[in-house]
Amino acid sequence: MDTQKQRNKNGQINIILQDKQLAQPNRNSKLRNETNNPFSHIDAAFSSFIGMEELKETIKEVYATIVINGKRNEMGLPGSNQVLHMLFKGNPGTGKTTVARKLAQMYFDMNLLSKGHFIEAERADLVGEYIGQTAQKTRSVIQKAMGGILFVDEAYSLARGGEKDFGKEAIDTLVKHMEDHHNDFVLILAGYPYEMDRFLTLNPGLKSRFPFILDFEDYDIDELTKIAKQMVQEREYELTKEAEWKLRTHLYKKKRETSTNFSNARFIRNVIEQSIRNHAVRLLNQEAFSPDDLIFLTGDDLTFDDQ
Ligand SMILES: Nc1ncnc2c1ncn2[C@@H]1O[C@H](COP(=O)(O)OP(=O)(O)O)[C@@H](O)[C@H]1O
Ligand SMILES: [Mg+2]
Repeated sequence: MDTQKQRNKNGQINIILQDKQLAQPNRNSKLRNETNNPFSHIDAAFSSFIGMEELKETIKEVYATIVINGKRNEMGLPGSNQVLHMLFKGNPGTGKTTVARKLAQMYFDMNLLSKGHFIEAERADLVGEYIGQTAQKTRSVIQKAMGGILFVDEAYSLARGGEKDFGKEAIDTLVKHMEDHHNDFVLILAGYPYEMDRFLTLNPGLKSRFPFILDFEDYDIDELTKIAKQMVQEREYELTKEAEWKLRTHLYKKKRETSTNFSNARFIRNVIEQSIRNHAVRLLNQEAFSPDDLIFLTGDDLTFDDQ
C-alpha cells in the first residue's frame, strides 16, 4: 500500500491510500514497470529505425508530458491537454508512412488512442465530384479513423485547385473534426517539404493546429548503408565487402546526380530485393554452391538498372 497526498481544487490536502498494483490499468503496466530508463520502450519501438534522432526525442517529449500530466491530475493540478496532430515533411522514402504506422501502435499502448489502427487516405478518398459530396466523404474517412491515426499523404493536393476546388471543403472538414475529436483521433498530414510549406502558407490558419511539425531528412550515405545492411540481415543474408563497396559507390554517384527524385530508403529496399532475386538466379545457374553462397550477396548480385 502506498500513501499519497492529493491537493484538491479548494487547496485542501486529501490523503489517499492506494494499492499500487490495483491502481494501475492493465494496459499501462508494461510502460510503468520501467525503472532504469523510463523511455526504454520508446527506444525499443524505434530501435530498427536508423537515424531519426529528432523524431525519437519528440516522441519522448509526448510520452513524458502524458505521464506527468497524469501524475498532476492525480494531485488535482491542471494538466495541459496534449494535441497530437502532426505534419510530416520529407522526400519519398524517408520513413514518413512507416513512422506514422508505428505511432498508431505506440499511442494505443500509451492509452492515447482507443484502437490504434492506421488509415491512409489521399485526395481521391476525401474529395467528391459534386457539391456536398466532399464533406460527406471526408467525414466517413474520419469516422473510420476514429480511435486511430488518419494519415493523409500528399496533403497539399487538397489545395491544388484554389478557392473553388472541393479540396478546400475537405480541409475545412478535417480541421473541424480535429478540434472536436482531438482526444481520440490523430491527424497526420504528410508530403514533400517544399509543397507542404507552400500548403501552409496558402492556409495560414492550419499551422497553429499542428503542434508537431517533423522534418524527415534525406539519409546520408552512411545511414543508407546501415539501412541496407539491416534490411539484408532481417532477411538473413549478408553483403560481401565488395557488394557494400559497390553500393556506396553507386550512392555517391546517385546523390551527386539527382537531388530531387531519389527515393532514399525505398531505393535501398528495391535494390536489396532485386539483389536477392539476382542471387537466386545466379546460384541456380551454378553447378554447386556452399552454405556461404546461400548467405552472401556479392557485388555481381547488386544491380541498379531500373532504379
Ligand atoms: N530510418 C529507417 N531505417 C530503416 N528503414 C527505413 C527507415 N526509413 C525508411 N525505411 C524503410 O524504407 C521504406 C520506405 O519508407 P516509407 O515509410 O514508405 O517512406 P515515405 O512514406 O517517407 O515515402 C520502408 O520499407 C521503410 O521500412
Ligand atoms: Mg509514404
